[in-house]
Amino acid sequence: MSKPIIAPSLLSANFLNLREDIDKINSSEADWLHVDIMDGVFVPNISFGFPVLKQMADLTTKPLDVHLMIVQPEKFIKEIKELGTMMMNVHYETCTHLHRVVQQIKDAGMKAGVTLNPATPVVMLKDIITELDMVLLMSVNPGFGGQKFIPQTLNKLKELRELIDETGSHALIEVDGGVNLETGKLLVEGGADALVAGNAVFKAPDMVQMISQLKNL
Ligand code: DX5
Ligand code: ZN
Repeated sequence: MSKPIIAPSLLSANFLNLREDIDKINSSEADWLHVDIMDGVFVPNISFGFPVLKQMADLTTKPLDVHLMIVQPEKFIKEIKELGTMMMNVHYETCTHLHRVVQQIKDAGMKAGVTLNPATPVVMLKDIITELDMVLLMSVNPGFGGQKFIPQTLNKLKELRELIDETGSHALIEVDGGVNLETGKLLVEGGADALVAGNAVFKAPDMVQMISQLKNL
């Protein structure tokens, strides 16, 4: 089993000390920085907008894994790219023309990820899986950090692993929500490539050490 990609989620950072928290992530074994953008429409919460995102993007040395919890995410492809984003994740539930949006993200020079809500079955991606760079499985209902991991995600992970292996897709599998040392271990054993962790990292007494523990599950 190879080591998982670890993507701390900035949503749980201390916004009064953002520089300090980002510096700690920079000095850690984290692979990516996960950034949650919410619009108060698709999800019942609002996170941060572009003025904050630009400053944050200047500080981080880690590739940006941007998770858009907004309706019509295709409207912001240019702005997301300008942040220096490596991976742009859009929700399946927000894209009527998902195939087109995925192409637009790739044409803009980013990797394309598609996110599934807990109630959206893996089979919905059957006809697009070979086009994707990543599938992001939500293991909580999106909108907030600090929620409890939904165990059914482990069954979805198994199905997704099978779909990817059967089709020869190169898509990575990332899981987001309620990931800690315990659930993280189950996910890595189940074939997850990347783990997002918000509270588990930012509320830990030693963030850098927690990231290292997740990396070496
Ligand atoms: C939730 C976000 C997550 C969140 C995870 O909608 O997509 O990235 O920050 O937080 P934890 O790890 O605390 O569940
Ligand atoms: Zn997220």
